[in-house]
Amino acid sequence: MKVAVFATKGYDKASFEKMNEQFGHELSFYESKLTPKTAVLAAGYEAVCVFVNDQLNRETITRLVAGGTRIIATRTAGYNQIDLQAAEEMGLTVVRVPAYSPNAISEFTIGLILTLGRQIHRAYNRVRDNNFELDGLQGIEIHNKTIGVFGTGRIGLTVLQNLSGFGAKLLAYDPYHNAEAAKLATYFDDPLEMVSHCDIITLHLPLTPQTHHLINANTIAHLKDGVFIVNTSRGGLLDTQAVIDGLKSGKIGYLAIDVYEIEGDLFFQDLSNEVVQDDTFSRLQTFPNVLVTGHQAFLTDRALRNIAETTLQNLTQLEETGECDNVVRFEAIRGNN
Ligand code: NAI
Repeated sequence: MKVAVFATKGYDKASFEKMNEQFGHELSFYESKLTPKTAVLAAGYEAVCVFVNDQLNRETITRLVAGGTRIIATRTAGYNQIDLQAAEEMGLTVVRVPAYSPNAISEFTIGLILTLGRQIHRAYNRVRDNNFELDGLQGIEIHNKTIGVFGTGRIGLTVLQNLSGFGAKLLAYDPYHNAEAAKLATYFDDPLEMVSHCDIITLHLPLTPQTHHLINANTIAHLKDGVFIVNTSRGGLLDTQAVIDGLKSGKIGYLAIDVYEIEGDLFFQDLSNEVVQDDTFSRLQTFPNVLVTGHQAFLTDRALRNIAETTLQNLTQLEETGECDNVVRFEAIRGNN
């Protein structure tokens, strides 16, 4: 199948080309994101392969259809960047990679808690500068902390499993209870009640209209003082302005994020010689108790291999049978969350 791969980085090209030796699709790699403007590049390609910040809105989809594209294969687990309703109306099939390595995200999440909680990132910079002063590097321990996990699907469950060795008290909120997670954590029916008990809160749920700004001024009002919030899911789960207010008031004592609400104009590119125009992001960067990474939780050797394999397998299945286990339907997002 002819596939136009958008938002390609060197690591994507390397993993897709290697894995494609087994599948034999005709891949063309584009560095640019897929937007209404760049959709023309996909003309004549049956499928587009996209990533988190490509813009699969109605306009892009209309242009893709005009160029003969009939499949959108996102090489991500989340699919909030795709207007599923428009895709369905225009007869496009959307496939994704539901689980390429929950461990990649889980281990990174715990890495963020340890790094910010123990100030490892600041210590690294000090020592590089031959500054061995410890003042200001006092940390917190995970042991005996109460940790609330929002979303106990593949990644949330793995986080609970990985955290279970730390001796923390584990709580969970998810409208759908998971029997394995229930062995490790106490489920709450009311998310606001759960957060009121937490020292650390970590988010592992999709971004949907229902979960948009899950952490908002009201949620923050229910927190204990100095809570640690970690977000490795999607930026839109946090109301960033409310979080900034929470950091200023001390309600939020630590914030570690791998995703940002308006990351599309920033992440996955080198802007070190540019003036960043996003004042909200710049404000976040000023806090000593905020750690931001650029959407890298997925980036491991195993995850890249699995992403390439499942994406190419999805396309082969559709080509051979017209069906695929990893199809995402508009109903899924409307009905579930
Ligand atoms: P999953 O579909 O296995 O689990 C998601 C869980 O969230 C489900 O159990 C669902 O019932 C639950 N949920 C839905 N609405 C909820 C709500 N309002 N409150 C609490 N729970 C709710 O998804 P998985 O694989 O665990 O991934 C979770 C998210 O992680 C993805 O949607 C994606 O946005 C993000 N992700 C981030 C990556 C990164 O590199 N930073 C990489 C991969 C995924």
